[in-house]
Amino acid sequence: MEEEEQRLDHPSLHLLSAVLALEPSESLISYARVCGGGSITEQVQKFIWDHCLSKAASSQLFTTLYADFNAPYLKSFLKKLITEVELERGHALDNLYELYAQYMTSIKDNSLVKSDARICKRISFLFPDGFSELQSCPHSRVLVFPLQCSLNMLEGDTGCSIWPSSLFLSELILSYPELFSNKSCFEIGSGVGLVGICLAHVKASKVILSDGDLSTLANLKFNLELNHLSVEFEMGERNKNLSMVKCMYLPWESASESQLQDIMPDVVLGADVIYDPVCLPHLVRVITILLTDTKSYTCRQNASCGGLSPNTEHEDGDLNDSNRHNCNDGSDSRQKEAPVAYIACVVRNVDTFNCFLSLVEQAKLEIMDLTGSLKPVNLLPYMQSYNQASIRLLRITCIH
Ligand SMILES: C[S@@+](CC[C@H](N)C(=O)[O-])C[C@H]1O[C@@H](n2cnc3c(N)ncnc32)[C@H](O)[C@@H]1O
Repeated sequence: MEEEEQRLDHPSLHLLSAVLALEPSESLISYARVCGGGSITEQVQKFIWDHCLSKAASSQLFTTLYADFNAPYLKSFLKKLITEVELERGHALDNLYELYAQYMTSIKDNSLVKSDARICKRISFLFPDGFSELQSCPHSRVLVFPLQCSLNMLEGDTGCSIWPSSLFLSELILSYPELFSNKSCFEIGSGVGLVGICLAHVKASKVILSDGDLSTLANLKFNLELNHLSVEFEMGERNKNLSMVKCMYLPWESASESQLQDIMPDVVLGADVIYDPVCLPHLVRVITILLTDTKSYTCRQNASCGGLSPNTEHEDGDLNDSNRHNCNDGSDSRQKEAPVAYIACVVRNVDTFNCFLSLVEQAKLEIMDLTGSLKPVNLLPYMQSYNQASIRLLRITCIH
């Protein structure tokens, strides 16, 4: 987002962010009305044209990548916009009519329903005043991440859509960067990769993303490159100027114990991975091995594996010095905290959720419901399709 756009008033910034995130047309129309004090004035239309559509027409933003993907969405938004303006007995700008006519001739109506249709959403995290200086976004009020997604959540791969829990975990990471910075982070079922991009942004020491679906993984790699993150390939090639994120093909059913033990994460993350009862035993097995791996402890002082409470971690900021201990051999070594998993989910089926909880208990893991006690800042206030309150946040650790 341009510097000038970052300074927009709230209604205009919300409208622009909602357009970039390809929110439903109804939501854009409601923001347009707020901007115009109740109606979609010519001034509001001009704002929409200047900030959201003129780039499409001039193909600056809509170069090959964006143009093909987003034009069907913009076509349907333009139709709704023009209709609403006319219903208000207003006058729609000529530019809007012309672009709509251009789309009418160039885009087929069924292009939105094709199962493999791809779009590029730009997710803007809006930092409240006074927040950005202290937290993960020192120089800007707005962070924008482009993500290639599939248009239809239920057709094609589930992993090519942005699920609400990954929006939640992204807000959590950007709200409490100290929980993830300088930590080795591993995500299961990464989907489009938004969580990983946020982890790289707050400078996790290592980011490993995984998925059990190959087409999802290919899309994930595409998104990392789109966000200027270097992806580690099999051969270990790397571009030293770019942050490194590793991608891993990891179906939970076939992940071997030694493969998982080699990962040694400090933090495991999972967003909307609790939905298929058949996969749950495999998912819990994977989490259990990641959290109980003994290789990851250089020097153990405490029998307790619970770690510090998230609130304590947040208040203390950098934990490193407080976790420095003397090992038995007399050397001064940093004690590695016990790994912790943050699993966010929407409870769509109570039985499936309860099944997950009981499998975790059987695996002798400790589970804490942090919903309500570790709330991220609302960084997506313009996104009416997402409700932070619908997400449960679980913290899982091993019991010793
Ligand atoms: C509902 S999507 C959530 C994607 C992403 N975490 C998000 O919140 O946007 C579930 C993800 O888990 C992956 N997944 C599902 N079953 C899996 C399995 N058995 N092994 C590995 N990954 C799996 C899917 O490919 C998909 O990317």
